[in-house]
Amino acid sequence: AEVVIVENAEAAGALVAAEIVELIDGRPDAVLGLATGSTPLPVYKALREKLAGRDVSQVRGFALDEYVGLDPAHPESYRSVITREVVEPLGLDPRRIHVPNGAQETIQHAGDDYETAIEAAGGVDLQILGIGTDGHIGFNEPGSSFASRTRVKTLTVQTREDNARFFDSIDDVPKHCITQGLGTILRARHLVLLAFGEGKAQAVADAVEGPLSAILPGSAIQLHPHATVVVDEAAASRLK
Ligand code: F6R
Repeated sequence: AEVVIVENAEAAGALVAAEIVELIDGRPDAVLGLATGSTPLPVYKALREKLAGRDVSQVRGFALDEYVGLDPAHPESYRSVITREVVEPLGLDPRRIHVPNGAQETIQHAGDDYETAIEAAGGVDLQILGIGTDGHIGFNEPGSSFASRTRVKTLTVQTREDNARFFDSIDDVPKHCITQGLGTILRARHLVLLAFGEGKAQAVADAVEGPLSAILPGSAIQLHPHATVVVDEAAASRLK
């Protein structure tokens, strides 16, 4: 992967947003791969300014993951987060922005349905990624197959603790999720992984320089011909 070390999260946001604007300028119906969590927020913030006045009505998007069994109307469902942080502020067409369906009733085929939708769109042009402190990308926790496709996974205790900040208590954090697989993510044409802060330093070093291993899901990016890692000094601090 190409590693770009930037001053801070704001600079990373501006850099990645500029890349996305260029993509959309060349391809008005570009397909964006959207991450949730805290990390991509500076990108979405920078896009508000950079995309203002542009026609984004054709832009398409696919979220990485969703909690299983959380009401889609819950403010912390990734459907809600994507609507609030991306669709509404950027003025995207909600019908073109997809989030995996975490409803219990349809979960059996939700993964296959999502794969079909991504394929029908012609695949993802640019996939934004964060990384978990335990090394997950999407919600592909350690042990996930590099060939995996969108499916239900169990969140690790570490991930539930990390995400408890979005809920009243850790007991409210769902135990399961539906996530694009590592194989799904690797099919995107360009991967852009962002990470900020000391807490991500080991996960970044493992992803960029660690052995290729299902125990280090982030290391899957080493298999990708066009992966860019945008980090601040603290997140880069364990790179050799
Ligand atoms: C979110 C996702 C996760 C997060 C990761 C880091 O859609 O797939 O992999 O990117 O858990 O989360 P933050 O950015 O909140 O530290």
